[in-house]
Amino acid sequence: MPTIFDQLLERFHVYLAGVESDLVADAVARIDWDMPFRPLEARPLDCLRHLDRIVELAPPDIRPLAQLVADHRDELHWGQTYTAADFGQAFIDNYGWLEVLGTRGHFVNDAVAAGLLILGPGIVYPDHHHIAEEIYIPLTGGTEWRRGEGGFRIREAGEVIHHASNVNHAMRTGKEPLMALYVWRGGPLAQKSTIGAEGRG
Ligand SMILES: [Fe+2]
Repeated sequence: MPTIFDQLLERFHVYLAGVESDLVADAVARIDWDMPFRPLEARPLDCLRHLDRIVELAPPDIRPLAQLVADHRDELHWGQTYTAADFGQAFIDNYGWLEVLGTRGHFVNDAVAAGLLILGPGIVYPDHHHIAEEIYIPLTGGTEWRRGEGGFRIREAGEVIHHASNVNHAMRTGKEPLMALYVWRGGPLAQKSTIGAEGRG
């Protein structure tokens, strides 16, 4: 019987492998998917209350992954990089990530970190940047994303968003929550993002 963690990695991999993007295909091909399991304690967060709505919003190709995460949310090791001192308590109550693979995640990988980000409705994730290159795929639609000097634009589920090293980016949600898949590579994989707009726009 595969464990919940094996199923998580499998559904994560299957979804990513089906995304039609050269950038994503390259990232998928460079990951050795036969990774050691890392036992981690369950660590639920307040933002997990949004998962039922996230499953409803997820398109059919994303639903198997979203449903598995929702069903087993309390068994997974969720993280937060920020504190209330960074963006306020409302942000902390509506934010969290799950590292599926990486230097801290459920599966050991020292070259790539990848996982899922949750943001509740009505949340602004202000400008930030980091050394690692990042690929984001929103798994629910209708949220607004901004990159570099550009303005906010609505991104739909399944779109591929690329943030080069140290390029600023920000997101904001409307009435609905967001779940997004992220891939970090080419930099320190557990770095806390630098907040503010000093990065390369
Ligand atoms: Fe980022």
